[in-house]
Amino acid sequence: MATIGELLAPAVERLRAAGSDTPRLDAELLLARAVGTDRTGIIAHPEAPVGPGAAAAFAADVERRAAGEPVAYIRGLKEFHGVAFSTDARALIPRPETELLVDAAVDEVLVRLARGTGARRGERLRIVDVGTGTGAVAIALAIVLRRRRVLDAVEVRASDVSPDAVALARENAAAHGLLDVVRIELADLVPADAPLQDLVLANLPYIPSATVDVLGGSADHEPRVALDGGPDGLDVIRRLLATLPAVTTRDGVALLEIGADQGETAAEAARAAVPGAGVEILPDLTGRPRVLRVERSPA
Ligand SMILES: C[S@@+](CC[C@H](N)C(=O)[O-])C[C@H]1O[C@@H](n2cnc3c(N)ncnc32)[C@H](O)[C@@H]1O
Repeated sequence: MATIGELLAPAVERLRAAGSDTPRLDAELLLARAVGTDRTGIIAHPEAPVGPGAAAAFAADVERRAAGEPVAYIRGLKEFHGVAFSTDARALIPRPETELLVDAAVDEVLVRLARGTGARRGERLRIVDVGTGTGAVAIALAIVLRRRRVLDAVEVRASDVSPDAVALARENAAAHGLLDVVRIELADLVPADAPLQDLVLANLPYIPSATVDVLGGSADHEPRVALDGGPDGLDVIRRLLATLPAVTTRDGVALLEIGADQGETAAEAARAAVPGAGVEILPDLTGRPRVLRVERSPA
């Protein structure tokens, strides 16, 4: 029977040769899945024997990865904001950079709850996550708010144009006990029958079409509708910005993820779409533009 260490070494080389940027990490995660442990177990016990069934399953997964399939699709799992999400080819794999959108949304919600919700004081704060994909943003936000015991004070909706994504997001909401809390709907942008929203969140596609064509890597396996933002990447975001005056409360805020090189263009588009709005770009931890914040009527 081969040991963990004996199986790992050639798999790392196989994945390196196939072009993976993270061959050791990939191999460790896949072997952990095959033997039913976590990555720490793999690293800590290189001498442990692996049964023939697990070894064969690992070999098959390594070949899938060598053919380019993302590890998150092979494992069917991705951690995002400390939460496990089911992932498969129905939706984009949640990215770590999108955690900033969740953090910014948490701050926004807590500030608003602390000061009441203006004319609708006493009513629940309305939040919508547009282009929810796996449900990552809406569900991670709801989990933080549940932990802080303020989930009852908000109404969370989520929308996506992809029926596949809606189905996957509902599965994730169910897995986290939130199916009755986060309302997940098939819709273009904000659902037409939704009441005015206090907070609009979105990580919509923002990659220029020509870039999507040559991205490679996991993008080759992810739905194009999740990535392709048109000629300059901002088509869908501009369409959402144009709806903001009609879908948000007077003191509503939108937080929209953007590409690092889109700060100025996205801010200009926001000022044009929402005259008088307060427009800000929130940077990520490396100081690069990441979230466009649009406040409809700044105080
Ligand atoms: C970049 S992915 C983000 C998914 C998820 N929010 C996340 O952060 O992992 C963009 C998502 O927007 C959806 N989408 C694209 N156009 C849309 C539209 N007009 N209305 C609603 N959703 C849209 C796609 O189907 C995809 O699920």
